[in-house]
Amino acid sequence: MADQTMANRIMTDRTASAPKPQQTSPQLCCIGCGALRGQATQNFRCPSCGDLLEIVYPGWKSADGIRSNLSPTSLKNLWRQRKISDLPLDQSGVWRFREVLPALDNWQTVISLCEGNTPLYELPGCARSVGIQRLYGKHQGMNPTGSFKDTGMTVAASFAKQQGFRWVACASTGNTSASMSAYAARGAMRSLVLIPEGQISWGKLSQALDYGALTCQLKTDFDGCVQVLNEVVQRMPVYLLNSVNPYRLEGQKTAALELLEQCDWQVPDHVIVPGGNLANSAALGKAFVEMKDLGLISRVPRISIIQAEGANPLVRTLREAGGKELVRVRAETMATAIRIGNPASWKKAIRVVQATDGTVEQVSDVEIALAKAEIGADGIGCEPASAVTLAGLKKLLKQGFVQANQTVILILTGHLLKDPEFTLKFHRGDLFSGSAQEKEARSLSEQQRGPVVLEASADAVIRTVEKFST
Ligand code: F0G
Repeated sequence: MADQTMANRIMTDRTASAPKPQQTSPQLCCIGCGALRGQATQNFRCPSCGDLLEIVYPGWKSADGIRSNLSPTSLKNLWRQRKISDLPLDQSGVWRFREVLPALDNWQTVISLCEGNTPLYELPGCARSVGIQRLYGKHQGMNPTGSFKDTGMTVAASFAKQQGFRWVACASTGNTSASMSAYAARGAMRSLVLIPEGQISWGKLSQALDYGALTCQLKTDFDGCVQVLNEVVQRMPVYLLNSVNPYRLEGQKTAALELLEQCDWQVPDHVIVPGGNLANSAALGKAFVEMKDLGLISRVPRISIIQAEGANPLVRTLREAGGKELVRVRAETMATAIRIGNPASWKKAIRVVQATDGTVEQVSDVEIALAKAEIGADGIGCEPASAVTLAGLKKLLKQGFVQANQTVILILTGHLLKDPEFTLKFHRGDLFSGSAQEKEARSLSEQQRGPVVLEASADAVIRTVEKFST
């Protein structure tokens, strides 16, 4: 979309002839007290009880909303047809599913970078090594800014634009800030990023800078950044784009729809998701439940959430507090994207695990590093936080929660190039040097493929190839 004006014109011309979104009016509903609201406050929390809001579509359950206008079969056909449409709105793998999203007053305010449309890869090497027949990775790292955040950002940033905001803001472990600043730039809005100093990867930081964000590195962790931002949004007219914003979750839902479409609407047995602030698992779970309500699928997959051992508030909340009260932790993990101890969407995530009969598990940084290299060896790079899914799957298989003949989808949330430093250190063998895991990490040597330094001669290269071909 090099020419924005042209794109807008095409959008206007063609949207008129596009099938109109068949929607019941969505409402904002508090997940705590159930109060319904037409509009959200600055902090996207319920003014009565302080809990999070979610977008609900009255009528879907009773099957008189979308289904009276478009049957499940026609919806599936419509979404598939849009894949060959040249309408910009259809070229977005998010807005292609606009019937299940909140509608904008004017489609021209959509800020899109052609997000979504991400591949579903078979992972044959990983499948063999864990002993399972059908294992796939839904690679959300193949989005425009390299993470799943783009699918939610196109929706929430478009709503910010519609409401006339000049500034958008987020606290982030890196990917949200990269995504938000790109969408803000495309929508001619300013972006304010709060990140924990020294705790996000260079790849992500450089994206925010390049997309023109005002980037503030705070001397605290992610949870501290969230706290500061909450105060900022109360005191200034900035639009909050953290995942407490329920519009983001609506966009993130579409990965589940696209996944099911890629599976020819055959429901997999298990979907395994990394857990940080716990919005993505909540969004995917919401999508599966809604798809069932709409008659698009007849059952939901089990959704399991995997956290890093050092950033495991959800695991502890379920194991130690029966899911009733959040057990906050001081988070520490090399998978910096999910270094979160006080996750905002914990209640939503628990609801998903319970509604889908899923589970939660935790994995060590060494297990994450190994899993990441195994995914890489299948030719599919991902960032450390994404690799918790494979590390978690190994444990779920051992426990018998997942069986070898079942179909499993790993949600790979971020691209390999987001955190090249982790990968380089891993292969050079010094990722865990000086850490408490140094001894445990010795087991990783088989996976390490550090660069070989040689004389500049063909002989030296050939000798090395011969050595490695045995
Ligand atoms: N994977 C990656 C690559 C992430 O960046 C994140 C979260 C998650 C998984 C966890 O998703 O928070 O919805 O449970 N990153 C956020 C950020 C927090 O600021 O970029 P979640």
